[in-house]
Amino acid sequence: MEVPARRSPEFLARGRTILTGFGMKSTLRTAAIVGWLLVPHGVAAQVDARVLARGEYLFRAAGCQACHTASEEGAKPLAGGRAFETPFGVFYSPNITPDRENGIGAWSDADFVRALREGRGPDGRRYYPVFPYTSYTHLREADMLAIKAYLFSLPPVAQPDRPHQTGLLASGMGMRFWRLLFFRSGELSPDSGRSPEWNRGAYLVRALAHCGECHSPRNFLGAVNGKHELSGNPSGPDGKPVPNITPDREDGIGRWSDGDLADYLKEGLDPDGDVAGGAMAEVIEQGLSFLSKDDIQAIIVYLRSVPAQPGAP
Ligand code: HEC
Ligand code: HEC
Repeated sequence: MEVPARRSPEFLARGRTILTGFGMKSTLRTAAIVGWLLVPHGVAAQVDARVLARGEYLFRAAGCQACHTASEEGAKPLAGGRAFETPFGVFYSPNITPDRENGIGAWSDADFVRALREGRGPDGRRYYPVFPYTSYTHLREADMLAIKAYLFSLPPVAQPDRPHQTGLLASGMGMRFWRLLFFRSGELSPDSGRSPEWNRGAYLVRALAHCGECHSPRNFLGAVNGKHELSGNPSGPDGKPVPNITPDREDGIGRWSDGDLADYLKEGLDPDGDVAGGAMAEVIEQGLSFLSKDDIQAIIVYLRSVPAQPGAP
């Protein structure tokens, strides 16, 4: 491993004087690009390692691993094959290891971004919303690409995908219609009227960790109902109910303190000392427990801000 070379403080100070001398943003940008071209390889490797670490963090928060790994003991991570039973058919997650034949090893950055942003394959195929691209569409492109960089740093697995068993509603035509009605693609735009902490929380809850995909009710066509954000879902993953996590004091988390919520999200222990079960146990174990204290707090700030709604699923 090369030891990364550093610029001396004098060099940096000189650069800064030159830049302020010109006092132009575009000059700064050009200088930054020239500077980047001049840096030795060691620094590039250091930048890569930083992108990979960030990619891994985002990947965990996004819960990619749980869905893309079969449930059987000894299943290869990310090689796909986990079954999702829905009213519209049984879907199997595909292999997303960097295997070129069976996984996504041959995908370009643009292919990957398109899958998460538009929910479409390199061949134009429209994905089913069991793949929560309906939330990932709100991610920033740099975050998508950090996730891809991390995925591509993992070992390829030569395991073929299992075909879905879908009904009529899940036909190509059905999907086109569904998307027309329910899918709005695009990065989440920050709300300038709110704090940076709230905005980070919104990004985590609505895009990356996609809490609403489980905690919001769905309509009869399986689309998340945004009007009742996080108010619970009588029929979540595996047909099991998912609790209301709006600030409602009776049915939601209105009586939980910040500490209660942080303990639950980090460690899976609720205020009564019960351990989180079902799909949430996996979300915490593989994802939320790796989040920084600041990110957990940002999630809490956001949760407190959604309208309280009564109703237990
Ligand atoms: C709730 C489960 C779930 C989660 C979470 C999930 N996926 Fe998926 N993903 C699926 C399913 C199911 C499909 C298949 C969709 C289809 O075939 O229409 C899929 C499809 C994909 C595809 C298309 C692969 C191909 O061969 O065409 C990619 C890429 C992908 N997911 C990446 C990711 C990444 C990256 C994450 C995390 C940021 C993620 N997924 C999180 C369930 C999930
Ligand atoms: C894959 C589905 C899924 C996702 C994604 C998910 N949850 Fe959950 N959540 C559940 C289920 C199921 C339960 C009930 C757990 C149990 O029965 O022990 C739950 C329970 C909870 C509870 C406890 C509520 C109570 O009244 O006991 C909180 C708080 C919570 N989730 C917050 C979140 C937050 C915040 C996110 C996103 C960062 C999130 N969940 C993402 C499925 C999910």
